[in-house]
Amino acid sequence: MTSEAITVLGLGNLGRALAEAFVRAGHPVTVWNRSAAKASGLAATVAGTPAEAVAASGLVVVAVLDHQAAQQVLHGVDVRGRALVNLTSGTPDEARELAGWAAANGAEYLHGAVYAVPQTIGTDASSIIYSGSAPVAERKSLELLGKVTFLGSDAGRASAYDVAILSGMYGLLGGFLHASALARVNGIKAAELTPMLVSWLTDLQPALTTFAEEIDGGSYSGGESSLAMNQSGLATLIRAAGAQGVPFAGLDAVKALVDRQVADGRGEESLARAVESFSVASQRFAG
Ligand SMILES: NC(=O)c1ccc[n+]([C@@H]2O[C@H](COP(=O)([O-])OP(=O)(O)OC[C@H]3O[C@@H](n4cnc5c(N)ncnc54)[C@H](OP(=O)(O)O)[C@@H]3O)[C@@H](O)[C@H]2O)c1
Repeated sequence: MTSEAITVLGLGNLGRALAEAFVRAGHPVTVWNRSAAKASGLAATVAGTPAEAVAASGLVVVAVLDHQAAQQVLHGVDVRGRALVNLTSGTPDEARELAGWAAANGAEYLHGAVYAVPQTIGTDASSIIYSGSAPVAERKSLELLGKVTFLGSDAGRASAYDVAILSGMYGLLGGFLHASALARVNGIKAAELTPMLVSWLTDLQPALTTFAEEIDGGSYSGGESSLAMNQSGLATLIRAAGAQGVPFAGLDAVKALVDRQVADGRGEESLARAVESFSVASQRFAG
């Protein structure tokens, strides 16, 4: 059986790794990149325009900087009969917008969010969540890139997961950077601190599962980590960080969520209740 032809639009760090994975597996690959030089050394056909590249293959994978770039690359191109897989990061509504555009132009659309770095594409360490067209998600070629998880027909759903997961990731990374800065002003090396930090964060993981149950159930009665206790702990931490010359607005923001719930008389309830402070904000913005 001959391998299906695949086009990759965008040869940045991710796009290049995607194209290399398809080439390694023996697929005829056509590539296009705004700066043609990035295709050098790749065993693929280099197209002169996005239209030429899309015409070459039934499966078209897009990996450019952002939604605006994806629009610029795709709009005006004849995509009839094509299966479009867009791995460009964006918002849920941006994914839905491109899915609508694809449907109006006779193409199937699958949106994906990549959990890998370019070096791990095509290895067990690569995982991609998708939503949109189920038949496209079932294409064997996508399994070459990483573990496939399909989240349903709403093209925006993978991005909805992605923005939530990335917020968790940046919260963690921001906390790690602040922890390292606090350690450094006390003459402690980040490498000395990190094993203890990782050990504590690992022990803390089950609490997230408990918090998730409380959040989904809307009931915050349980637990040994009350809002009032955390309000006091955060105040001490903010004071300590400020006194050492490394204040961090991220901590102030977390404390503000807690403060709102304590002010509402919820101080004895679980820390997870602070999620309701976001709901108040979003209701206010919606209204
Ligand atoms: N790298 C990762 O680890 C990773 C992981 C998960 C998700 N992602 C997502 O994957 C996407 C690509 O990431 P990347 O790491 O490959 O980024 P990158 O290395 O910065 O490459 C960006 C690509 O977008 C192209 N581009 C930018 N603006 C354009 C425009 N207006 N028209 C056409 N092409 C345009 C660039 O073309 P030129 O070469 O001509 O500048 C280049 O091919 C991003 O949305 C990123 O968030 C990346």
